[in-house]
Amino acid sequence: MIGRGGIITGHGIAVPDKVVTNDDLSLTLDTNDAWIQERTGIRERRIGGTTSGLAIEAGMAALEKAGRRPDEIDGVILATTTPDQIVPGTSATVQDGIGITGGAFDVNAACSGFVYALTVAHGMLAIGAERLLVIGSETLSKITDWDERSVSILVGDGAGAVVLEAVDGPGQLLSYKLGADGSLRHLLKCDHGGYLYMNGKEIFRKAVSVVVESSQAAIAEAGLTPDQIDLVIPHQANLRIISAACQRLEIPEEKAVIVIDRYGNTSSASIPLALADALDTDRLQPGDHVLLTGFGGGMTWASAVLKWGG
Ligand code: ACO
Repeated sequence: MIGRGGIITGHGIAVPDKVVTNDDLSLTLDTNDAWIQERTGIRERRIGGTTSGLAIEAGMAALEKAGRRPDEIDGVILATTTPDQIVPGTSATVQDGIGITGGAFDVNAACSGFVYALTVAHGMLAIGAERLLVIGSETLSKITDWDERSVSILVGDGAGAVVLEAVDGPGQLLSYKLGADGSLRHLLKCDHGGYLYMNGKEIFRKAVSVVVESSQAAIAEAGLTPDQIDLVIPHQANLRIISAACQRLEIPEEKAVIVIDRYGNTSSASIPLALADALDTDRLQPGDHVLLTGFGGGMTWASAVLKWGG
């Protein structure tokens, strides 16, 4: 697709130590473990830390895995919908915390943010950047009303990061599809100083269709058919959304990486957390075709097909 591509050479994650189980939530909310597991697939989530702190920890782990020093990185792109402050961008804190000498900027495309950031990073490599750190980091717990059960049972905090390095030739990214429909922005929102609100049922319905359509388009543009996808790394919002999407894509659900049971919905961190899980459990081999696909507030959606290892 492009003359100069990229490959992921290192990954890292960071999650807070504090584990909050469904039983913990049911102590203060009118809910229970069976309902949450059956309706969402979530068993527990991690809560705590700051978006910059988690991003720095995940970013440093990714650099170490890639065998790179901070001064070898041309820039950091931080996908987040829960910045530490409105201004400055949290990526600046991350740049300083890690000691990266290149530029830094935030990407906010809600839960689709990591795939948006990864796509932008590939574009930067195509025009000359050598190495970039791409991070998804979130502390959704900070914008959650813990006295209200509809959103609080879903969310978690965490971060995942990758080092992306330039290569001559097409690299790993075979195709991408980014989409948005701002007329649906009322479905999932958080006003200044407020709490996260969402219309779960409407999001659910729309999520399945945009994930399926954008995945099908990305797979076709990569010159592949769904049966050639070896691994699916979906945004982790609800296990039932993942199941429904896999079913409609005719990709066996066993090919989907699941971390929602342990981490809940970590928005833009969920895809890099799941990618790291796949790598750490040897589920990804060179040459594998990997589908990344997510959706979120906006609404936004993003799907990309990678050939692992380029
Ligand atoms: N515990 C127990 N019961 C509950 C809970 C709860 N936490 N929440 C709702 N219920 C009850 C309801 O009151 C309702 O009871 P009723 O039938 O007596 O009226 C029943 O359970 C069913 O409620 P629904 O809202 O219909 O449940 P649904 O199956 O739609 O699941 C959920 C709700 C999990 C929120 C689902 O709609 C969903 O996951 N939607 C998508 C969410 C999403 O993807 N968000 C995007 C990202 S979020 C982000 O970006 C941070």
